Amino acid sequence: MARLLASLIVILMAAGFCSTAALGETTQEVVNKAPNGLALTPPMGWNSWNKFACDVNERTVRDTADAMVSSGMRDAGYQYVVIDDCWQGPRDANGFITADAKKFPSGIKALADYVHSRGLKFGIYSDAGRLTCGGRPASQGHEYQDAITYARWGVDYLKYDWCSTGDRNAQEAYAVMADALRASGRPIVFSMCEWGTAKPWLWAKNTGNLWRTTGDIFDSFATKDPKRDWAHTVLQIVDLNEPLWPFAGPGHWNDPDMLEVGNGGMSPTEYRAHFSLWAMMAAPLMAGNDVAHMDDTTKSILLNKDVIAVDQDTLGQQGHRAWKDGDSEVWVKPLSGGAKALLLLNRGETPVTIRASADQLGWPAGVRATVRDLWAHKDLGRWTGSIEATVEPHGVAMFRVAP
Ligand code: GLA
Repeated sequence: MARLLASLIVILMAAGFCSTAALGETTQEVVNKAPNGLALTPPMGWNSWNKFACDVNERTVRDTADAMVSSGMRDAGYQYVVIDDCWQGPRDANGFITADAKKFPSGIKALADYVHSRGLKFGIYSDAGRLTCGGRPASQGHEYQDAITYARWGVDYLKYDWCSTGDRNAQEAYAVMADALRASGRPIVFSMCEWGTAKPWLWAKNTGNLWRTTGDIFDSFATKDPKRDWAHTVLQIVDLNEPLWPFAGPGHWNDPDMLEVGNGGMSPTEYRAHFSLWAMMAAPLMAGNDVAHMDDTTKSILLNKDVIAVDQDTLGQQGHRAWKDGDSEVWVKPLSGGAKALLLLNRGETPVTIRASADQLGWPAGVRATVRDLWAHKDLGRWTGSIEATVEPHGVAMFRVAP
């Protein structure tokens, strides 16, 4: 009888009829909730790793914060300034983490205060194992202690990596840190970085705000790094991240890794394609370049407000490939208010003319709509049944089509 009653309660809870007693919320309300109400559009900011790796220090972070303001990046939506690996020093006698005193002599709290004083938010990095990927002390066994330390310092964003985790269960390890962050009482965006190994898109919707879906990005559009098989080109990442589109939404995003725009390994055409594809995939837009010394081309890409608006659209739906023929692809991303972003991609080595039809947008042929070219920043007038563009090798054309 008791077993029967227990099963009945489980069934009722699964159907959303019962309250989770302590919280007074129905099961359905708990399931629907973003993990912390944060990142309702994909997070935007800067992360030190792609350009500076372990050479990061407080001067670099301050200069970057200043440049994010003076370049207009902050006002374009880039909000989080995130220090990746290698900021950590040893733990103190009570087990609290300290900063590397050579790289961060003023301490992390002072740096976070500075970043906040520039109207930006501050992020930091740790790892679910004993050591970070760079060999610094990580958070396993210190999760609550670290979360409270981050909250005291004024941290707004935590990237949480997966090195030295042995046989830890990813779902459990990330849940522990998510709970610790919640318990800290400070709203902290939780960026999960376990490279898609345990398929976080299947279980992390209420754990993290974003989860990496692949190994690390490599600053190349299509040519693999011969020395590092975990490093992925833009096209490899795109092909791994694209099919996961149904799992993204407000508060929980697929993360195809940070941007390489401006780091020197790709042509401006390829960087425009990289940035556009990330926007179509509603990816977090974390610049990964030397913002304090970027050239005008880099700036014009990172500050393309038309493309940023596609990424940040409040509908929060990840776009996907609607059509493909060899190296030619058509991508579509539904936007709020019934509009759609449309991307024509040429993966190949020669220019190609690509045509998108109303059908690929999911609309009848006679649909009445207006078209804007998001790289030329030009309204093109009325939609006339299809749109066609000659696209450079490794390039894109990108439009907003609004009925
Ligand atoms: C892993 C992550 C990277 C970066 C480094 C730091 O490789 O995937 O994004 O954080 O660790 O060591």
